[in-house]
Amino acid sequence: MEAILIGFMGSGKTTIGKLLAQQLQLPHIDLDAQITATAGSAITDIFEKHGEHYFRQLEHKVLVDSIARAGVLSTGGGTPTQAMNLHVLQETSTPVILLEATTNTILDRISNDAGRPLVNSLGTNGLVSLKEKRRSQYHACADLIIQTDGASPQKIVSDILHYLKHQKN
Ligand code: S3P
Repeated sequence: MEAILIGFMGSGKTTIGKLLAQQLQLPHIDLDAQITATAGSAITDIFEKHGEHYFRQLEHKVLVDSIARAGVLSTGGGTPTQAMNLHVLQETSTPVILLEATTNTILDRISNDAGRPLVNSLGTNGLVSLKEKRRSQYHACADLIIQTDGASPQKIVSDILHYLKHQKN
């Protein structure tokens, strides 16, 4: 892996990951899409039929498989919150990049998204406290933190490219 993107739901991991991979001319791997493909069903269906614990087991397996591949990896918002995954993200030599956004920005982006089971089950207050609770876990494995509010995707990608270039030198 060239770069791993982490951050809360709606922080832009997939959008930025795709653009970054394009710029680097590498494959983009989206952890949620890999989980969906492996399970043969949508994330909401996995949560509904098998529960979150089962989803987290799948997520860990897919993370370990994906991290060994070439490209840019966009994780799920909950990936670093599992101890086994946090360990993988802390140990990898691949730069882990945290995309941050204010709670208002995040809520604007995700509050009507039916494809995210936690948005449906937690409601606004639950999401706000989950975001707060996860902050330290994200920070515990991030090598670079980017504030995304008000920044264009192009600017965010160019900041990441700049960082990656300097990492290599
Ligand atoms: C989750 C985030 C989702 C997805 C699942 C659980 C979470 O990914 O993995 O719904 O626990 O925050 P996105 O961050 O891409 O929405």
